[in-house]
Amino acid sequence: MRLSVIGTGYLGATHAACMADLGHEVIGLDVDAAKVESLNAGRVPFHEPGLPEVLQRALASGRLRFTTSFQEAAAFAEVHFLCVGTPQLDDSGAADLAQVNGAVAGLAPYLTEPTLVVGKSTVPVGTAQRLADAFAAAAPAGAGVDVAWNPEFLREGFAVADTLRPDRLVVGVTTTSAEQKLRQVYAQMLDAGVPIVVTDLPTAELVKAAANAFLATKISFINAMAELCEATGADVATLAQAIGHDERIGRRFLQAGLGFGGGCLPKDLRAFRARATELGAGSALDFLDDVDAINQRCRTRTVAAALTLVGGSIDGLRVAVLGAAFKPDSDDVRDSPALDVAAELLEHGANVVIHDPAANANASVRLPKAGFVDSTDEALAGADLVLLLTEWKQFVALDPATVADQVNALRIIDARGVLDRSAWAQAGWTIHTLGRGTIGPTAPPRHA
Ligand code: UDX
Repeated sequence: MRLSVIGTGYLGATHAACMADLGHEVIGLDVDAAKVESLNAGRVPFHEPGLPEVLQRALASGRLRFTTSFQEAAAFAEVHFLCVGTPQLDDSGAADLAQVNGAVAGLAPYLTEPTLVVGKSTVPVGTAQRLADAFAAAAPAGAGVDVAWNPEFLREGFAVADTLRPDRLVVGVTTTSAEQKLRQVYAQMLDAGVPIVVTDLPTAELVKAAANAFLATKISFINAMAELCEATGADVATLAQAIGHDERIGRRFLQAGLGFGGGCLPKDLRAFRARATELGAGSALDFLDDVDAINQRCRTRTVAAALTLVGGSIDGLRVAVLGAAFKPDSDDVRDSPALDVAAELLEHGANVVIHDPAANANASVRLPKAGFVDSTDEALAGADLVLLLTEWKQFVALDPATVADQVNALRIIDARGVLDRSAWAQAGWTIHTLGRGTIGPTAPPRHA
């Protein structure tokens, strides 16, 4: 099929490359000419394992190209996917739909024939119907422009696999022809057994918001338990393991620690909250304020633990911060818990030295006052305190005895709950793990 993908960020660039990989003819469109040039040259402008290979393969096959021209995309494609960003608007938390509206305004004048527009961006419920009305009013094809919604659930770091082998496909449609076309687009996945849920537009839009809200709630639930564990001397890792054995609960997304960040969960949670309030159903989602607050507290609890571990004042001490991205295998620092903690420690007068395998460049723009170094060794050298804030595998694999020779004081905070604490304590370290307390030579006694 001939497809267009409008907006070539994480979602769009991945979708475009993967659809071409499946055999479709794809044109990717972005208003950012530099991004288009980079993608046409086979360069992915962000860190996503496996995507450069798929992109280059698709370009070489001749089935993929990128443009800035809406006219070209409209003339080429029989199905248009909307993949533009919907960032947080302001303190209200609502979604900023400027890019979505811009894409509609750019595309509509060139839609002279009946066609299908499929939204993939995460939008407030009700947007799809509004876009259908906007196309009907602005496109020469009028009501011949069919609008469907097909939310995307991809995770950064797994974008290619999640796009090619999703857990499920969700399509919101108002016509059978839209459903048929989408079944054709995804025929290979459907043949491979990927389940599909066909529904109406508002349900499809809500599925995405609900899925993200549920995941965020699950993480905040375990982090709330971590607070309880810290207050009682219990161990959140064991607790998560024990409740996770119950299949109704499940172990995944129960990793206690520094909580969630990134370009999706935090802003989608707030946008969902804001939309519910607009719809007069705000009280149904009151609990999401607590989910957000628990998540923010993970950051302040980490800073408090750092201050406690160094005996009260961190002013002038050298702090090695391992990780700046919101999660490993990503260079994304949007709403990064690691960077928030680093920023707070800087405020307390610490000399913060950060190393992230992929996110140093992005992080240094956000936090220019911190020191950024190119290796773990440089970060650790002479440190009075080490903080593991993003669980890159090279950090998880650090050897406590080797690191002990590099630092100035054997104190570490494992804010992601990934280190073998007994091994670190045995090597002479005082180690604090969120939700599990402190062990090691100078650790305070645990609660009775
Ligand atoms: C998320 C959703 O998973 C995805 O379905 C949606 O489409 C976009 O948002 P992503 O932002 O890539 O994807 O990250 P994810 O892997 O879900 O992790 C989100 C955050 O939660 C990270 O900061 C991670 O460190 C944190 N997290 C995750 C935890 O703190 N504990 C966990 O148990 C799991």
